[in-house]
Amino acid sequence: MNVTLKIWRQPDAASEGAIHTYEVADVSPDMSFLEMLDVLNEQLNDRGEEPVAFESDCREGICGNCGLMINGEAHGPEVTTTCQLHMRSFTDGDTITVEPWRADAFPVLKDLVVDRGALDRMIQAGGYISVNTGSAPEAHSVPVPKDDADRAFNVATCIGCGACVAACPNGSASLFLGAKVTHLGLLPQGQPERDERVVNMVAQHDHEGFGGCTNIGACTAACPKEIPLDVISQLNKDLRTAIKHGH
Ligand code: SF4
Ligand code: FES
Repeated sequence: MNVTLKIWRQPDAASEGAIHTYEVADVSPDMSFLEMLDVLNEQLNDRGEEPVAFESDCREGICGNCGLMINGEAHGPEVTTTCQLHMRSFTDGDTITVEPWRADAFPVLKDLVVDRGALDRMIQAGGYISVNTGSAPEAHSVPVPKDDADRAFNVATCIGCGACVAACPNGSASLFLGAKVTHLGLLPQGQPERDERVVNMVAQHDHEGFGGCTNIGACTAACPKEIPLDVISQLNKDLRTAIKHGH
């Protein structure tokens, strides 16, 4: 396959960026999108040009580092992470536009790399859970209903990639936040600090400049882990309860 790439290039956070056009030849349909970008970077290196900066780590869909806006869609045309997107999802001769996540709370650092530290600061604002450390407790000593355990496990699969924020017209991180709050709120270990946690995390969300949720649903459609939209209802419910309790 031969593809034309229109890629956002920006030397650093303070500089203006622009779209640059590159041709990449001999792309295998079995390459991942990131492997195709590796090929481009080898070509740029050979020509003595600056390679395109982009993030990746695991390349297995589990670390959340690799988000790109591909043809206007977070992580591209499949429900997966950018590293698990393969070139067979495109057609020979395609022109593909590649941009960084676009959100006020995710400033561009260079080319396709954004600072997603705001998500980490929200987790930090959530604080600790007061469980005893030491050896693992006996598995049946704290019973958890099966439905709760399954849902907690499902929402805990959020990898913090930020696609939900990039896809949302409001730049809201409500799906991410809802996943984190729901995960701990369903488990006995999450109860003692439950009210404080949701209040502090929502305050940090707003402080970071993320927008509010208006129930559009673009977040859940873009989420590679298919986190359901109703975690945002749970988030709102937990926040109302915490406020009722005087937080
Ligand atoms: S909710 Fe989904 S899209 Fe948002 S950070 Fe988690 S995994 Fe990524
Ligand atoms: S590089 Fe880890 S999820 Fe894509």
